[in-house]
Amino acid sequence: MITVMGATGHTGKRIVEQLLQAGERVRALGRSAERLAELQRAGVEVLAGEPNDAAYLAEAFRGAKAVYTLLPYDPSVADYMAQQAAVGEAVVQAIRDSGVRRVVALSSVGAELASGNGPIASMHEQELRLRDLPGIDLLILRAGAFFENLLPALYMIEEHGLVADGVGPDVPVPMIASKDIADAAIAALLARDWQGVQVRELLGQRDISYAECTRILGERLGRPELPYVQLPYEEMAGGLQEAGFSADLAGRYAELARGINEGTVKSLEGRRPGNTTATSFEDFVAEVVG
Ligand SMILES: NC(=O)c1ccc[n+]([C@@H]2O[C@H](COP(=O)([O-])OP(=O)(O)OC[C@H]3O[C@@H](n4cnc5c(N)ncnc54)[C@H](OP(=O)(O)O)[C@@H]3O)[C@@H](O)[C@H]2O)c1
Repeated sequence: MITVMGATGHTGKRIVEQLLQAGERVRALGRSAERLAELQRAGVEVLAGEPNDAAYLAEAFRGAKAVYTLLPYDPSVADYMAQQAAVGEAVVQAIRDSGVRRVVALSSVGAELASGNGPIASMHEQELRLRDLPGIDLLILRAGAFFENLLPALYMIEEHGLVADGVGPDVPVPMIASKDIADAAIAALLARDWQGVQVRELLGQRDISYAECTRILGERLGRPELPYVQLPYEEMAGGLQEAGFSADLAGRYAELARGINEGTVKSLEGRRPGNTTATSFEDFVAEVVG
């Protein structure tokens, strides 16, 4: 049996479905029994609870051959690092208490940095917590920026006729489809063939700039002149707050944009076949925009 956190989300749902198809017993976790019902009907064991509840997680992890962990959050969270620490500590406590020995943990490119990486700082702290656990085989997947982050741009395009962010138009960014992250996790959860602590970057099909993403989106939407506008960091943070992000998290995303622009938040491994994944931004846009 394999336990999957975030089972109704981008990576977790696909992981659950594909593991089930591969003939594994799966235990799927989320906060709501109702949202998990579809997976239950498909033959998955579901367990609803809060991801900051160590006792609940320990029950869910107990007996698993491997677990998939992540740190979900709500963009409106007032104190992001505190919320992330609460979940991260519960996950680590549950790994300890359940005796599970094999863990695949979703993290991010840039998580080697303690600061200057915006929201990724919480994944830095979680990597440290997980590394402190004795005797587990830990695979850390450091993913690039999700293509899905650009979905709010569809609203921006509709409302304002442009795409805007704090990242420079031509800065190459490793961006990835969440399904490619899921597929890497699935392969590892099925093979269970690594030992000790391993860190693996997942960088997407190619590095891609916001200007190029905007061009691809514009072409798909029949708006070939769609502009990309680089916002000053404060303006970017203000826009995020208008969209429902807390001041704390909006500031962290602006810090991340700066880190990307200044080249401090970047791949450590550099691009190579082993960290390059299949889905292009063009494929992704064709799928979501039609
Ligand atoms: N976005 C990026 O560019 C990026 C890059 C690298 C790494 N990451 C990491 O990837 C993670 C997201 O992975 P994902 O996209 O697979 O997950 P996700 O879809 O964002 O979330 C997974 C599940 O978490 C639950 N959830 C949502 N908000 C929550 C909250 N406030 N408290 C507790 N649970 C909540 C939801 O399930 P229920 O509602 O059913 O409980 C959701 O389906 C991020 O948290 C980050 O750590 C992100």
